[in-house]
Amino acid sequence: MKSRERQPSPEQEEPSESVERAKFELNRVGLELEDLKDKDVVDLGAFECQIEKAAREQGINDSVVSIERRDYFIAKDGEKKTRVLAEGQDMPLKDSSVDLLISHAGPPLAGTKTEDETMNVLRDVKRVLRSDGEARFFDNSILHIALENRTPEVLRIAEKHKDDDITLVEAETLNRYREIITAKSREFLEKCGFDIEFVDDNDKTDDENAKRYWILRKRK
Ligand SMILES: C[S@@+](CC[C@H](N)C(=O)[O-])C[C@H]1O[C@@H](n2cnc3c(N)ncnc32)[C@H](O)[C@@H]1O
Repeated sequence: MKSRERQPSPEQEEPSESVERAKFELNRVGLELEDLKDKDVVDLGAFECQIEKAAREQGINDSVVSIERRDYFIAKDGEKKTRVLAEGQDMPLKDSSVDLLISHAGPPLAGTKTEDETMNVLRDVKRVLRSDGEARFFDNSILHIALENRTPEVLRIAEKHKDDDITLVEAETLNRYREIITAKSREFLEKCGFDIEFVDDNDKTDDENAKRYWILRKRK
């Protein structure tokens, strides 16, 4: 018997590129798209704003704010452009207005170059978060924080890769220094006035080099 071709129902349609990418970024900080529901959400260092687009597309949240310092692309015709061109250290957002701030491979753990710059981003993150809000950061290297602490092994790797995207290189090598980097980063983040949760067994990804992320909450 000849099988009948069936049109996929909307539920069966392939997820769009934005949804795939948003899931990838969100999973790396232990979240699903559904977790954005009914929250004031910021995606910091948003690049192509895939989290914002996917949340709108799926009808989960149509007011995710994407903050990005570079004007990478012009919104296509008809595309709602809500991306905010701004620096993470000076976000055009009201005090205590955000429930969830996500940064996937963006500032303050990637992108910022010095301890001062990192601290300034964290200060602004603290300012915009509600008292019961949280920030979730993923970055493979969290290297620059340790850099200022002059850990010799870390400096050596950094020197070798100073022109590369350090989040993508030598993940295995970096793993060897993971404990030092993590301890120094925790110390630094605590100094900035956050309660820290460091997750190192994220079960939302199978990538052994991407199991770690940070949750920061304002210290009460
Ligand atoms: C490695 S990309 C990650 C982009 C996106 N989150 C993703 O996962 O595809 C980091 C982004 O953060 C942006 N960025 C870096 N530092 C920033 C800052 N201080 N303020 C705003 N955006 C920043 C960069 O321009 C870049 O687009």
